Amino acid sequence: MRLCFGTIIVALSLNSAQCAPAQRLKDHSINTTDLKAGYEHVAARYASWAERKKKQHKSYLTYGGLGKLMESTRLATPAPIRKRGTVLPLYAVGGYPKMLGQTFNVEVGMGTPAQLFNLTADTGSTLTWAVQASCKETDCPGVAKKRTYDPSKSRTSKKLGSDHEAYGDGEMDLTLYNDTVHLGKISVNAATIGGADKTFEKDGELEHDGLFGLGKRLDVDTRAVLSALSKQDKRFSQTIALDLGANASLEIGGYDFRKYRKLVQIRVDDVFGWLLPRSIVTAQGAAQVDPVDLLVDSGSSVSMLPASRMDAIMDRPGLKVQKSTSEPITYAMPCDTKLNVHISLPDGTQIPVKDADILMQSNDANMPGCLSLLVGTTNPFLPAVLGTPMLKSIYTVLSRSATGDWIGLAPLAA
Ligand SMILES: *[C@@H]1O[C@H](CO)[C@@H](O)[C@H](O)[C@H]1NC(C)=O
Ligand SMILES: *[C@@H]1O[C@H](CO)[C@@H](O)[C@H](O)[C@H]1NC(C)=O
Ligand SMILES: *[C@@H]1O[C@H](CO)[C@@H](O)[C@H](O)[C@H]1NC(C)=O
Ligand SMILES: *[C@@H]1O[C@H](CO)[C@@H](O)[C@H](O)[C@H]1NC(C)=O
Repeated sequence: MRLCFGTIIVALSLNSAQCAPAQRLKDHSINTTDLKAGYEHVAARYASWAERKKKQHKSYLTYGGLGKLMESTRLATPAPIRKRGTVLPLYAVGGYPKMLGQTFNVEVGMGTPAQLFNLTADTGSTLTWAVQASCKETDCPGVAKKRTYDPSKSRTSKKLGSDHEAYGDGEMDLTLYNDTVHLGKISVNAATIGGADKTFEKDGELEHDGLFGLGKRLDVDTRAVLSALSKQDKRFSQTIALDLGANASLEIGGYDFRKYRKLVQIRVDDVFGWLLPRSIVTAQGAAQVDPVDLLVDSGSSVSMLPASRMDAIMDRPGLKVQKSTSEPITYAMPCDTKLNVHISLPDGTQIPVKDADILMQSNDANMPGCLSLLVGTTNPFLPAVLGTPMLKSIYTVLSRSATGDWIGLAPLAA
């Protein structure tokens, strides 16, 4: 029934009986249990992130990092590149209630000759990996349904060592390889990639073969495929653009600077991720709240804010919102509610978030109407996360360069 998500053009080519309204309502409605599962997935994703961040922040401070950080926040945002890159299609997969929300796959080749995979375009992690061919169902649940990486069939593969990563709902063991990576017509000759030897339980249910790490973390710089590409090709600009609209795409090496002339650029000095600093997620008429750092994470299928910020949005006169009491804090309301949420950037620019991106039909008897995919958390160790439910409203550019990193945002154009 996933096909019913398609545009009208797609729907017309389907047997219309498959998309009867009653059926659609049933298949595309959620309850608080679904939302909780999605939230737990995101929370687990950041359990080790928060830990690492605490630890590394300490050593960063020890080595005089804070001084540098203070200095750097006064630096100007680097001039935007005016360059188009390679545009790869993204495939929307998952979605409630079947899975933990929606994410986007991109075709990535690994090895010589190329072995092709559908990997989640993930701005929240840095390593690119697929399940290894030698892994069996007991260690890699769902492996029979996935395309696997076989290093022995790649004449460019070189084993580098082993690695352990914490992701989503569990821990993973991987073997790292030096191998060629293919992104459309681009070939990256000496990229570090992972072949998973052990994945976590939930990964078996996810409709992907692994992750394409588009995140940034200075301490593991060499691991990101795009860093390897920029070492190989000095003219390559480490810039990507995400368009999660109806014709979703990932642009590598540039962005659509003609269509998005009014892209707002925000300098990012955080060393641990694509953290949009000092931004406010709010709505007209909402009580004022302090800014919060927002993690741009296309691998997260819920968006999440501190509960106090969510309350400011939801406790507005004229709205009829019901709120849950347990974690995550979820919000139900009539489906025709106009939430009109927007992100207010440090320079004052407002990026609107479409209600259709965050409101979903509820099948929960206790929380009727529509449920918000933007949830609240009272856990102070979790970051505020800009996941796919909000990123679908935004054209997002992530750029790294010697003169500084920046995030570019603009309302998504049709
Ligand atoms: C919530 O919905 C899912 C499917 O969306 C269903 O499997 C589950 O039983 C529901 N749970 C409750 C408590 O209603
Ligand atoms: C990736 O997914 C898309 C959409 O489902 C599909 O058309 C394509 O064949 C898949 N590619 C691979 C390598 O599995
Ligand atoms: C990876 O392989 C390339 C050649 O294929 C080589 O130049 C590079 O040094 C290797 N990198 C590592 C980390 O072994
Ligand atoms: C979808 O995007 C691809 C790649 O950017 C483009 O070639 C194609 O024309 C687009 N299709 C539509 C319907 O906009």
